[in-house]
Amino acid sequence: MNKVSIIGSGNVGTSTALYLAEKKIADISLIDVVEGLSEGKALDAEESAPIRKYDIELRGTTDFSELAGSDVVVVTAGIARKPGMSRADLLNTNAKIIKSVSEKIAQYAPNSIIVMVTNPLDVMSYVALKITGFALKRIVGMAGVLDATRFRYFVAQKLGVAVGDTTAMVLGGHGDSMVPLPRYSTVGGVPITEILSKDDIDKIIERTRKGGAEIVGYLKTGSAYYAPAASVAEMVECIIRDKKRILPCSAYLRGEYGIEGIFVGVPVLLGKNGVDRIIELELIPEEKEALHVSAAAVKEVIEKLEDLEIF
Ligand SMILES: NC(=O)c1ccc[n+]([C@@H]2O[C@H](COP(=O)([O-])OP(=O)(O)OC[C@H]3O[C@@H](n4cnc5c(N)ncnc54)[C@H](O)[C@@H]3O)[C@@H](O)[C@H]2O)c1
Repeated sequence: MNKVSIIGSGNVGTSTALYLAEKKIADISLIDVVEGLSEGKALDAEESAPIRKYDIELRGTTDFSELAGSDVVVVTAGIARKPGMSRADLLNTNAKIIKSVSEKIAQYAPNSIIVMVTNPLDVMSYVALKITGFALKRIVGMAGVLDATRFRYFVAQKLGVAVGDTTAMVLGGHGDSMVPLPRYSTVGGVPITEILSKDDIDKIIERTRKGGAEIVGYLKTGSAYYAPAASVAEMVECIIRDKKRILPCSAYLRGEYGIEGIFVGVPVLLGKNGVDRIIELELIPEEKEALHVSAAAVKEVIEKLEDLEIF
């Protein structure tokens, strides 16, 4: 049996564990620093196994040596946004948490693939890379799958069509400057630019960009977790089952799209080795410019890491 460890047994971590358990593709370990939290969540979930028919093991612990033997490590440890906060506001607290968590991953699961979830996402993926020293393809961030799934939902709602018939592509950093690409987003294979007015598309883009904040505004004490967890589970399944799907993920770029040395959302071929390939789409000048603006916003936050002296 494959093994997936999830660090952080909060809202996103435990929802991911449940979605993954339903897929029955790997044993799952939940790890958190709060005594009893992972144990309680894992036991509660396991007790639904007779009804949900899981034939996998779900364990919970505070002991990071439980990471040993993991094929995939999902990182959701850290604080989430509250109303009025941007993802970048989480930097100081989460960078230190991701540093310590990355050290544990390097120590106990040196052959794993890391799926980063903690925000600010693209920057936390960078911290994990620097601390673990893992091969570039073995660290991948979850953001684009979530942003694209929100975009697809809004398109399906607007047109009154099945969500399953929609596709979407969203590039860039996981922030307000993300770059949804209507030309590469379809309904039944037809680009939405052929079906929806520019005004409707602009409204959907805006709602997608603010999709996280919309949920934070309702919840007030935390941020979204069902759609994020479903997105993580989709990526983990793709890795465990070597599905080689093309998904928008945060990946380390070395000149692709003219961007160098940072993690940014791009289409990647995702399989058992992690990021097998980065797909370079043909972009028109305004899409290219929007992607570069978004990448510059990620770089700006990375530069703030220097003051934190974590490397
Ligand atoms: N990438 C995305 O698209 C996306 C989407 C949603 C949430 N997020 C981010 O995911 C993170 C988690 O969100 P959440 O809603 O689950 O938060 P949460 O507060 O519910 O859970 C976070 C958990 O991390 C644990 N934790 C803190 N430090 C730890 C450490 N050193 N080791 C292990 N566990 C530790 C906490 O005890 C807590 O249980 C946040 O940073 C949030 O912004 C990202």
